[in-house]
Amino acid sequence: MCLNFRKCQSVLITGASRGLGLQMVKVLSNSSERPTTIIATARNPITAQELQKIAKSYKGVHVVQLDVVNESSIESAFQEVSSILGGNGLNCLINNAAVSTETDLKTVTPDKMMKCFETNSVAPLFVTKAFLPLLQAASAQGTDMGIHRAVVVNISSELGSIEANWGDGAAFKSYSYRISKSALNMTTRCLAADLEPQGILCMALHPGWVRTDMGGPDADLSPEESISSLLSVIADLNKSYHGGFFDYSGNKLPW
Ligand SMILES: NC(=O)c1ccc[n+]([C@@H]2O[C@H](COP(=O)([O-])OP(=O)(O)OC[C@H]3O[C@@H](n4cnc5c(N)ncnc54)[C@H](OP(=O)(O)O)[C@@H]3O)[C@@H](O)[C@H]2O)c1
Repeated sequence: MCLNFRKCQSVLITGASRGLGLQMVKVLSNSSERPTTIIATARNPITAQELQKIAKSYKGVHVVQLDVVNESSIESAFQEVSSILGGNGLNCLINNAAVSTETDLKTVTPDKMMKCFETNSVAPLFVTKAFLPLLQAASAQGTDMGIHRAVVVNISSELGSIEANWGDGAAFKSYSYRISKSALNMTTRCLAADLEPQGILCMALHPGWVRTDMGGPDADLSPEESISSLLSVIADLNKSYHGGFFDYSGNKLPW
């Protein structure tokens, strides 16, 4: 597959052990116009067999331990990634790791709310904060906005859209997941406002409803369909996407 990722020297993906994160690593590693350095993070690298296989087969694919809700794991990952990049910055950070629970009004609990909030909303903020020096280093080398310079992509969900959660759009019940993704969207906007002066593009991206462990077998899209389209959107990011909420085809979504 040909993706215009050559202008991006380095990409880091969280939650690459399975599902969409793993699919991103697969497609990027195998692309003729791939980034030189692909950092695939997983909270349990030893059990991430498929990811390990990819890292062995392709040059420049590094598996790094990262539990996104663990501060010391974030710090260690930052040190390891800095050494992999050897003084170069990080061009593209994809905050993909997430958890989901179906919680209707009857089954929602404070624990389930906090778990989703911690992983899906708080962790992407603190992972981004930790890796900011590397994003800033990359940004200092470029002009305009895009993956040739520095971007933060937060993998969100249309289930986090407040406007779309009405009528038919309100059929899927999950207080914990929906609220956590709305909060992630706000995190994205806050980061976009703060990092704009430094030329770091921040946006929220919905991958579609996809057949993964999270999406289930009845979902609309295969991981291949979702990720080939989603990576094309990321490859072509420019200032017009900054601070926005889009889907895998590049369509703007309502907040
Ligand atoms: N699939 C869909 O239909 C759909 C729709 C809209 C949005 N999304 C979003 O797309 C992204 C990927 O979803 P998916 O379908 O690939 O989900 P998935 O198949 O359930 O995979 C989730 C990934 O996140 C990782 N993860 C969870 N908690 C983590 C933590 N604390 N630290 C590090 N990694 C952690 C998991 O690692 P382990 O293997 O260690 O558990 C796994 O790699 C998520 O942000 C999700 O919300 C998915």
